[in-house]
Amino acid sequence: MNDEQIPDVMLNSGYTMPVIGLGTWTLSNDQAEASVYAALKTGMRLIDTARYYGNEVGVGRGIRRAIEEGFVTRAEIFVTSKIMPSDYGRAARGIDDSLKDLGLDYVDLMLIHQPGWNDEAVYRALEEGVRDGKLRSIGISNYYTPEAVEEILSFAKIMPAVIQNENHLYYQNKALQEYVSQYGIVIESWYPFGGRGHTGQHFGNETVAQIAKAHGKTPAQVILRWQVQDGYVAIPGSSDPQHIAENFDIFDFVLSEEEMERVR
Ligand SMILES: NC(=O)c1ccc[n+]([C@@H]2O[C@H](COP(=O)([O-])OP(=O)(O)OC[C@H]3O[C@@H](n4cnc5c(N)ncnc54)[C@H](OP(=O)(O)O)[C@@H]3O)[C@@H](O)[C@H]2O)c1
Repeated sequence: MNDEQIPDVMLNSGYTMPVIGLGTWTLSNDQAEASVYAALKTGMRLIDTARYYGNEVGVGRGIRRAIEEGFVTRAEIFVTSKIMPSDYGRAARGIDDSLKDLGLDYVDLMLIHQPGWNDEAVYRALEEGVRDGKLRSIGISNYYTPEAVEEILSFAKIMPAVIQNENHLYYQNKALQEYVSQYGIVIESWYPFGGRGHTGQHFGNETVAQIAKAHGKTPAQVILRWQVQDGYVAIPGSSDPQHIAENFDIFDFVLSEEEMERVR
């Protein structure tokens, strides 16, 4: 699959974001480097990390290796990181630390990792990061209600482009997606498979298994296709190049509205 065929979503920041990417939570620097390289090699262009994961150095290495080999450019890659809670008192420096460890001069999307004690100041630092050209889009993570989002909007001068939240078969929060659509905010799903150690319940879900069989696809692919078709961005985590390739191979089939509804 070439770049032209990877579906993107248009963010309210004016930048586009690929709808499927690689999550890197729990990966060591070495694992992150290998997984990021494998993801880029297979055609994925969205990479999710966080300062808290401690693997930005590895993520950066994987990105540079791919760019140096010449099959992708920096401009084609969408890198997300997050301000970690222990940096909430020094958010601007946290952004610089991420850029340094990633070895990048800008990050495509920087998020507040979770609500904290001084969201306004942290968000202000994100906005300054945009003005300084260090960040392209900004957003928040783990804000689950309209009220929590509205609190950010009460002081935001730049609209959040993305909310990254837990979102999967057993925790669907369609109401929030519908609510924030008025602002052009995209919801990105973390734990699309329920997280490491909990994937069995998701892959073994009978409805998903039946639909997977009907399409000649795996349960993982049906879950991701369902999320993407429903307007979400999904970032399945993986350290296995075969799984990464499988997770990217979801654009040659379409779920019917009846199948979408059954999964819902
Ligand atoms: N903002 C937040 O607070 C937050 C919180 C949690 C996670 N996240 C982000 O969301 C990403 C996704 O969450 P996650 O990685 O924790 O959990 P996940 O994506 O729900 O599940 C990851 C698990 O699925 C397995 N897997 C992946 N693809 C597979 C496939 N095709 N077939 C079978 N197994 C497969 C992985 O094993 P293998 O390694 O063997 O493939 C791993 O055990 C994270 O990596 C992180 O970037 C954000």
